[in-house]
Amino acid sequence: MQYHPISHDIILMEAKTELLSFPIHGDSRGSLIALECFEEIPFAIKRIYYIFGTQKNTPRGFHAHKELKQILISVSGSVTIHCEQNSCKRKYFLNSPDKGLLIEGLVWREMHDFSPDCVLLVLANQHYDENDYIRTYEEFKKIVLQSLNHEE
Ligand code: TYD
Repeated sequence: MQYHPISHDIILMEAKTELLSFPIHGDSRGSLIALECFEEIPFAIKRIYYIFGTQKNTPRGFHAHKELKQILISVSGSVTIHCEQNSCKRKYFLNSPDKGLLIEGLVWREMHDFSPDCVLLVLANQHYDENDYIRTYEEFKKIVLQSLNHEE
């Protein structure tokens, strides 16, 4: 198994998940949501990707990141995001384009129960970097433990 040493930044970055609500600009024609960096989105966006056409009973994710900040928005359909941080497990049901799940720091994330029409938009503050991934749960727990020990 590949081992990623903890950097100074990781120790400092607190694991965090937060459900954000975005303002909807609605009128008789329908609805519009506008997202701007450092306004609704608390970071500069460097990458956008979206997950769609997910097969039935097919979860995704199963990883953590060392430094990445992301906001997940189900712009269509629904999905449940399972997060684990500091031994605390939480589930977030995303079923509306005006809800965004902010995930930053050492958070294990899994995406479950995608509806067939789900389009999950992800805004990220870094370019894609495989070295930022923690790909196994075992390694995630090990790094969390190491960062806690380092704080003492
Ligand atoms: P993967 O990390 O397996 O997706 P998930 O975490 O949602 O299960 O990514 C699937 C593929 O897409 C993999 O080959 C890497 C590639 N990919 C990129 O090229 N850029 C990206 O920004 C992301 C998120 C994935």
